[in-house]
Amino acid sequence: MRKPMMAGNWKMNNNWAESVVLAQQLSNRYDERWEDVEVVLCPPAIDIKAVYSVLEFDRREEVVKVGGQNCHWEASGAFTGEISIPMLQAVGATHCIIGHSERRGYFGETDMDVNKKVKALLAAHMTPIVCCGESLGVRDSGDYIEFITKQVSAAFAGLEPAEVKKCVVAYEPIWAIGTGRTATPEQAEEACGAIRASIAEEFGADTADAIRILYGGSMKPANVEGLIAMEDIDGGLIGGAALKADDFVKLVEACL
Ligand code: PGA
Repeated sequence: MRKPMMAGNWKMNNNWAESVVLAQQLSNRYDERWEDVEVVLCPPAIDIKAVYSVLEFDRREEVVKVGGQNCHWEASGAFTGEISIPMLQAVGATHCIIGHSERRGYFGETDMDVNKKVKALLAAHMTPIVCCGESLGVRDSGDYIEFITKQVSAAFAGLEPAEVKKCVVAYEPIWAIGTGRTATPEQAEEACGAIRASIAEEFGADTADAIRILYGGSMKPANVEGLIAMEDIDGGLIGGAALKADDFVKLVEACL
């Protein structure tokens, strides 16, 4: 059985004090049943330490994990503006989102960059949450399954099956991100099922069975049930709804 994951991608929202408030609201709503879900909060990098401190003070840090939204593959050096994996780990992060469509689209991140970051995170024993997903243009062209599976294959190039198992994939169709337009459960399942099948082909059935595949793109309390009921959808990567404690708690509890 795959442990469901609910990960909040706070994007470039909340300064450190606002992040503390949200983390405390979530911590106050904590319930022992959350242990059956891998709950991950990914605040802006500059807020991670503050969020982790709230969770640690409340003794939640074993259950509610924190993660980065991006990282560099080098441990240190002359890379102005970048954040390294050891820096993320030093403030309590155990997970990191990689290759989000906003990083690819606005900051020119390539499949090769994603691959280097995945390898560096695994070497540091962190969990990469690897994003993939097609634009509306690619969906309308009809070649979206090929596009998505190629992104996943490129992200995992050169990895051993045992390493792939430790990763998480997030399928996030760009046309559904922040638009309020969610993929239907059937559309999301078609893509997540195809990702799992392509991982089975490349890395074996065991690996495909073990890896968690999330859906992301306007997931919210009103549509979560239908999406996570799907066989190949193991949870969500949440943007907008992760910024409201009430909504995020409902999403976590929908996984129970
Ligand atoms: P959204 O964002 O839930 O606001 O659509 C999801 C994401 O980009 O990770």
